Amino acid sequence: MNEILVLGGTGTTGRRVARRLTALGHPVRTASRNVSRAGGGGHRLDLDDPAGWAPALDGTRALYLVEPDLRPGTDRRERLPLLVDRAVAAGARRLVLLSAYGVDEADDGHPLKAAERAVQDSGVDWTILRPGWFAQNFSETFWRPAVLSGLLALPTGDGRTPFVDAEDIAEVAAAALAEDGDRHAGRAYRLTGPRAIDFGEAAALISAATGRTVRHQDVTAEEFVAAATAHGAPAEAARRLAGLLTDVREGRGAEIGDGVEQALGRPPRSFEDHVAAAAAAGCWTPAD
Ligand SMILES: NC(=O)c1ccc[n+]([C@@H]2O[C@H](COP(=O)([O-])OP(=O)(O)OC[C@H]3O[C@@H](n4cnc5c(N)ncnc54)[C@H](OP(=O)(O)O)[C@@H]3O)[C@@H](O)[C@H]2O)c1
Repeated sequence: MNEILVLGGTGTTGRRVARRLTALGHPVRTASRNVSRAGGGGHRLDLDDPAGWAPALDGTRALYLVEPDLRPGTDRRERLPLLVDRAVAAGARRLVLLSAYGVDEADDGHPLKAAERAVQDSGVDWTILRPGWFAQNFSETFWRPAVLSGLLALPTGDGRTPFVDAEDIAEVAAAALAEDGDRHAGRAYRLTGPRAIDFGEAAALISAATGRTVRHQDVTAEEFVAAATAHGAPAEAARRLAGLLTDVREGRGAEIGDGVEQALGRPPRSFEDHVAAAAAAGCWTPAD
């Protein structure tokens, strides 16, 4: 009953959480569908296959929980709550849920809303992380191809948002999962960077760090959805992302959160720090 299970252990936050916990000397197992990508301590766990969860849950004292699929739907609303039940029944005593900014005010159809309730009602120590947009979206995930093309065509206008570094999310998660005492129990941390910037400034900072010309072009939500679907994105996912980006345009989520300071006693990493680290790591060096 000693290991910490990191769900989504190959993802943006999960692999950082696992790396930090391992560096601190804690026994960690990662879990995801694709075990080969997870490396040595990886367990196969498919959220859509509860019959196969027991081996990954057996012997875990704490869990990092991620809902990777935010399409609305009953199945997705029920799978993390069921995993929470099973984990607690198997002996887990700490749960850290990666949620998102605004979920506390979202309607009951949001998959993360049900997950938040499940950890809050679990009867064991819980911590909820509510981050804003990740800085790593530019360097590792969905906006990286646009950065490499030089044009970020997004319906965000001059809306500002305080991008958060996934390293900070992982550091807070690792503290909540493994620190002695119960300082993080019953806390919901709003995690952001130290300053809200618009996408034009984000593009300019990446340009300055990489020497590549990257610019932001404001487009309508309809233009964004049309371009995304023309590049093969499912229409529903493109519309959902357009809605979230329109929130940025309208100033929702622009306020700075104090979660990093509260949890770690230091200010959050800046977007500039992330850009410098990502450029040095070759994140924007195109493969030959
Ligand atoms: N990106 C942002 O700006 C942002 C901002 C706020 C909140 N968030 C939240 O972050 C969460 C995503 O976390 P992340 O970015 O760390 O992860 P991620 O990079 O999207 O990776 C998803 C992880 O989940 C695993 N996974 C996918 N489907 C699975 C399934 N059916 N069963 C088990 N594992 C599965 C994946 O591995 P396999 O494919 O091998 O299974 C992978 O390890 C979402 O809930 C999102 O709301 C994101």
